[in-house]
This record gives sequence, structure tokens and C-alpha cells, in this order.
Amino acid sequence: MLSYRHIFHAGNFADVFKHALLTRLLSGVSVKEKPYVYLDTHAGIGRYDLTHPWAQKAREYENGIARVWRAKDAPPELEPYLDSVRALNPHGTLRWYPGSPLIARQFMRGDDRMVLVELNKVDYAELKAVFEHERRVAVQLMDAYQALKAYLPPPERRGLVLVDSSFDRTREFDRIVKALKEAHARWSTGMYAVWYPIMEPAPMRDFAADIQRSGIRKVLRLEITVRERDETAIIPGCGMLVVNPPWRFDKEAHPIVEWLAKKLVVSGEGHSQVDWLVPE
Ligand SMILES: C[S@@+](CC[C@H](N)C(=O)[O-])C[C@H]1O[C@@H](n2cnc3c(N)ncnc32)[C@H](O)[C@@H]1O
Repeated sequence: MLSYRHIFHAGNFADVFKHALLTRLLSGVSVKEKPYVYLDTHAGIGRYDLTHPWAQKAREYENGIARVWRAKDAPPELEPYLDSVRALNPHGTLRWYPGSPLIARQFMRGDDRMVLVELNKVDYAELKAVFEHERRVAVQLMDAYQALKAYLPPPERRGLVLVDSSFDRTREFDRIVKALKEAHARWSTGMYAVWYPIMEPAPMRDFAADIQRSGIRKVLRLEITVRERDETAIIPGCGMLVVNPPWRFDKEAHPIVEWLAKKLVVSGEGHSQVDWLVPE
């Protein structure tokens, strides 16, 4: 039984961070003419109505996309992401927020393909409706980790896999490390982006050490923190691991995460970090 519904969190700081980086990764894979596949293992519903009562419950987007969508001082690398939000809200009022599938859709060229995987039946149905007439978009009701086995390696041998778990089960970090190792064994040249929440220091150290021991090379780690740790369950920040990032992505990610950490900070000082968890 899946209780997590992303609409409660849509457009929050974590979405902004993840989607801003996602656009840079996608523009990196689109540089070469050869077709690629985008596999989204935890796809959600594709498009979020921020006026929906569930999105209104905690109004998390107010400390996220609402702070940045019309910023004039954003680094130029962020423009494609901000443009995709503006395009959904042409009248100047923020109502719609694009999920990862819709963001990825804007990069697709004629022969590229997307596979969108979602395990929640209701969310799956909504996602399927968004991409109903799209021949090159496959929407699957399936477990993320099964999907990694079913779809990798892709026939194109080029592409990006986004693993964006809702972390609503215990030991999700362990599950992700195992799945990433298996996926990488099947397809070592693929690009993988794995989003994660920043939890207590001990599990974060274990996660980093497990990746370092995994045998996977070329792993870039990007993180932001936007609030001080307190007694609430609210995470102070989040991160993304990128395996086989595009050329120069490490350099261009710096100004993006630095700017976001400053814009999205809620308490304390916003911090950002980009480093090679495992070099080449
Ligand atoms: C963080 S949300 C995804 C948001 C989406 N990637 C985006 O950026 O717009 C995580 C999604 O994963 C789904 N989910 C949870 N466990 C899953 C699993 N084992 N396999 C596939 N989907 C799962 C949830 O229903 C939820 O919609």
C-alpha cells in the first residue's frame, strides 16, 4: 500500500533542486544527435495543480518554486527549467507545476523515447492521461526496481535514468544502492540521477560509503541544505547522485546549486556542495 502522494509536496525546494539539475542533465544527453531513452522510475502524475486542496495543505511550493519562478537574477543555466514552469503558467499566476516527466518531455526529439514508471494506481492513471496520445512515451504501472531490470540496458545504449524515490519505506537507501549496483552491472555507460533526502549524519555516511564500495565510478554528489535541523521530521536538505554526468556538468552545477541554496533557505544559512563522491 503506497500512502505517499507527491502532490502534497509538489514544487517544494526539493522539486526545484531536482528538476533544475534534471534539465541540465537532459540538455547534456541531447547534445549528440543519436537518440536516447529517458527512464523515470518514480514518475508521479506529471503535472501538479498547486490550487488542489492537498497541495494547499502545507503549501510547500511557497518555499520552493514560488520563490524562484520569476527571478531575474537566476544563472542562465536555469532558464530552461524556469521557462518550463512559466510556460505552464502563461498568465503570471503560479498554478501548475511540471513533474519530471513533463520536464523531460520538453527535451525529447523525434526519435527519443521515454519510459515512465509509477506504482500507485491512481497516480499512474493520471500520468497515463497526460501522455495519452504520445507514441514515444510508455507509461507503466510497475515497481521501480523491477523496471530497472526490465528496461536496462536500452537498445539505444544512450540515456538517463531518474530514480526519485518517495523514501516512504525503511531501508530505502539500501534498496537504492542495491538497485543501482545491479542496473550499473547491466548498463555501465548509462547516466543515472538518484535523488535523496538528507537524513541523520549516520545513515548519510553509510549511504556514501556504500556507494564508494559499490565499484561504480564517476559519481558526482550534489547537495543543498535550506533549514537548520530541528525536532520536526522536516528534512534540512536534499541531494542527488549523478553517475556518468555529462561533460562539464560538475562545473555548471556549482552556480545553480549555490543560487538555489540562497534563494530557498528557510532557516540558518543555505548551503550547497558539489563533489566527486567517486572519481573516474
Ligand atoms: C517523489 S515522487 C516522484 C516525483 C516525480 N519524479 C517528479 O519529479 O515529478 C515519488 C513517486 O514514486 C511512486 N512510488 C513509490 N514507490 C514506488 C515504487 N516502488 N515503484 C514505482 N513508483 C513508486 C510514488 O507513488 C510517487 O508518485
